[in-house]
Amino acid sequence: MCTTQALGHTWENVARVIEETSLFSVFVKRPKTEHMRGIIKPKGGAYCLLLSFLVGSSVTTSPPPLALPIKWPGLNNTNCGLRPLVDYPTSRIIGGKTARDGAWPWQVSLEHYALFKGYEHICGGSVISEIWLLSAAHCFRKAKSALYWRAILGLRTLYTPSASTVVRSIQKIIVKSDFHRETMVNDIALLRLKVPIVYSAYIQPICIPNNPEINISLPCFISGWGRTTEGGSISRFLKEAQVDIIPTKICNQQDWYAGIVHDTMICAGFERGGIDSCQGDSGGPFACFFSKTKSFYQLGVTSFGYGCGHPRNPGIYTHVASYRNWIENVIQTNNRNHIEPLLHHMILLTVGKLILF
Ligand code: ARG
Repeated sequence: MCTTQALGHTWENVARVIEETSLFSVFVKRPKTEHMRGIIKPKGGAYCLLLSFLVGSSVTTSPPPLALPIKWPGLNNTNCGLRPLVDYPTSRIIGGKTARDGAWPWQVSLEHYALFKGYEHICGGSVISEIWLLSAAHCFRKAKSALYWRAILGLRTLYTPSASTVVRSIQKIIVKSDFHRETMVNDIALLRLKVPIVYSAYIQPICIPNNPEINISLPCFISGWGRTTEGGSISRFLKEAQVDIIPTKICNQQDWYAGIVHDTMICAGFERGGIDSCQGDSGGPFACFFSKTKSFYQLGVTSFGYGCGHPRNPGIYTHVASYRNWIENVIQTNNRNHIEPLLHHMILLTVGKLILF
């Protein structure tokens, strides 16, 4: 088990253990400690998000069930976390599967425009209000300009819009300013849409919890179009999987993540691996179902992991509730529609003229 001292020590190694492997993807390299050298890693990549149908949880935990707020209304005091087209989850899903139409109405595909390539799916995101999307900071590290991004809502099959699909340009990307790419701390971003969305059966906001306590016995789900095998290609269909919340203490053990999981992160998956998020799922929601209110809360934002689906290396998600104040502040300070600078000038000039003459 990881002690406080051990944690302090391993933090020094964090910069060395996190490595970026492609433009937008982040892998975490396992710290090489004496203790770990003997561990044999599966070759050719383990099974990734939603490909494995075999694995169940073997993590034994002592849950201190702490409740979420009874009802947290959506950011605009609207209903949230509801999915009109699909029943609430009743039984456990083993392994990943293709999502049903309307199963994750807050799920967004964030596409980036590149010359000669056109728009390409890079990250996931989630709808939290008519005008705000939540995503991960690392998705925008190398592509900061809102101009080249767009959000696809109400989508099930990548690059294949249906009648329920809506495309929105991004007006502004607000990345948490103290996002630290070496440690992945504060991996959170907000995107303001140019034009608000109208909710439908296929497009709904997810609830944002304001209670930082995590009830590890909640049924939680990951969703996205990310890779279905480590190093493989992204998925055409939106996939989903149920994963367990793993207490940070367990996740930070030497032969797990050896202390790199910060308390503003959530660890979720299975000790045996197999079911996990992967590259392309980042920024997407880690959603938990709260049966009392029959609604989904976004407890996490898909952030990073060592490879995908490796045993004892579950997915790491940004702990959204830790950022509730930041989210509210950003939304409050950016809620006015921007008057175009030119228009602003013209108004000032006219007012000036009227005063002078
Ligand atoms: N960083 C990845 C992305 O950019 C997501 C990684 C999640 N990895 C994991 N093993 N759960 O899409």
